[in-house]
Amino acid sequence: MVLTAPLPADGVGALAAYDVEVGPPTADADALVCLLTDRIGPDVLRGRRLKVVATVAVGVDNVDVAAATAAGIVVTNTPGLLDETTADLAFLLILAASRRASQAEAALRRGTWDGWRLDGFLGNDVHGARLALLGFGRTGRAVARRAAGFDMVVRHCTRHDTGEPGWTDDLDGLLRWADVVSVHTPLTAETHHLLDARRLALLRPTAVVVNTARGPVVDADALAAALEDGRLGGAGLDVYADEPRVDPRLLAAPNLVLLPHIGSATAATRLAMVRHACENVDAVLRGERPASPVNPEVLA
Ligand code: GLV
Repeated sequence: MVLTAPLPADGVGALAAYDVEVGPPTADADALVCLLTDRIGPDVLRGRRLKVVATVAVGVDNVDVAAATAAGIVVTNTPGLLDETTADLAFLLILAASRRASQAEAALRRGTWDGWRLDGFLGNDVHGARLALLGFGRTGRAVARRAAGFDMVVRHCTRHDTGEPGWTDDLDGLLRWADVVSVHTPLTAETHHLLDARRLALLRPTAVVVNTARGPVVDADALAAALEDGRLGGAGLDVYADEPRVDPRLLAAPNLVLLPHIGSATAATRLAMVRHACENVDAVLRGERPASPVNPEVLA
C-alpha cells in the first residue's frame, strides 16, 4: 500500500497490519491513500492490483472517478468530517471581506494608518445581510446555521428543489439579490466558472463573494477585474484554480482576503479525515463495504 504523504501516526492505526510505503501515486500498489494535491488519472488507475484509492478530502475532482469505476477500483473520500471546520473558515472570510480586515491590517502593518477616521475602512454589516449559498450540501448548511446567529437572510441555489425554505434555481436572480455569496458546490463540468464575468456583473457593487470550495468554480480573472473596477465590494478566497500558484492579478486586487486552502486545517479535523481514509482502505482490503465510497456501484 502506498501513502502519497506521511500521515500522523495516531491516524493510521487501521493500517497497522499492512505493508505501507510512502511515495508518489503508483499503479503498482493494492491501495493508495492520497491527498487532494495528487492527480489520480488513468496512468495510476490502470494498476492491475489496485483495489482502492482513498483520498483524505471530501472533494474528488483530482481523481478520475469514471476511470476508477471502469477499472473496478473503489474510490473513497471523507464526507461529514470537515463541514463544520470549513464553514467556520467560510464565515471568517465572509466577516473579513465584509469588514475589510485584511486591507485594514495591511495598512496598519505598513505604517500608513494615520488614526481613527469617520470614514476609515468602511465595510458592510454582516448581521442582517442577505446571504446566497451556491450549493446546499453539508458545508453550505453549516454556513447557513452560522448565518442564523448573525440574523442573516439566507437563500440557497441548487439544481434540484431541496424542499427547504430559501431554495431557488434562479441563480441570476439570487445574485442580483445577495449582499454575500458563498460557494459550496463540488467542482464538476457544470460548476466550472459558475461565477463567470456575466454572473459577477449581476452582483451589487457592494457585494462580497467567498469561495472555500474549489478554485475553478469562480473565474479568477473576472473576479479580479470586478474588484479592480470597483464593481464588487470585496471577496475572500481559500481555493485557486492552479494551486499553489495564485494569479498575480488576485494578489494585487483590492479588498480580497486570500488564504492558502486551509478550510479543513484544524488538528482535530485533519486527524479525523486521516483516520477515516485509513479505515476506508482497511474495509475494502478486507472485502467489506467502506463507510464512504464515491463509486458504490463498484461494490455491487
Ligand atoms: C478540501 O478541500 C477537501 O475537499 O477536503
